[in-house]
Amino acid sequence: MGWVRLCSEDEVAEGAVVSADVGESRLMAVRLGGSVRVAARTCTHEDADLSCGFVSPEGVRCPLHLSVFDMESGMPLNPPAQNPIMTYNVKIEHGAVFVEV
Ligand code: FES
Repeated sequence: MGWVRLCSEDEVAEGAVVSADVGESRLMAVRLGGSVRVAARTCTHEDADLSCGFVSPEGVRCPLHLSVFDMESGMPLNPPAQNPIMTYNVKIEHGAVFVEV
């Protein structure tokens, strides 16, 4: 599919989560430490919507059972989740966030 526009860069404030769908992919964009990261937003434990979770410097915390996912590697940093969420390449162009899908 290639690079797809996800949202405006301005929408992704520090600590905010923006959810967006690209085809069948349910994604979220998060700004951490100034960088925008994009990952799948369905928790690998019991399918909770991670975009309803909480952002911390370590990543995004699932709202249901509180596993934290690293937004770079996608790996859960604590149980109960054991499997990573998919992460995506991101580029910022002309004030917009693009994701490679
Ligand atoms: S649904 Fe996310 S940790 Fe359980």
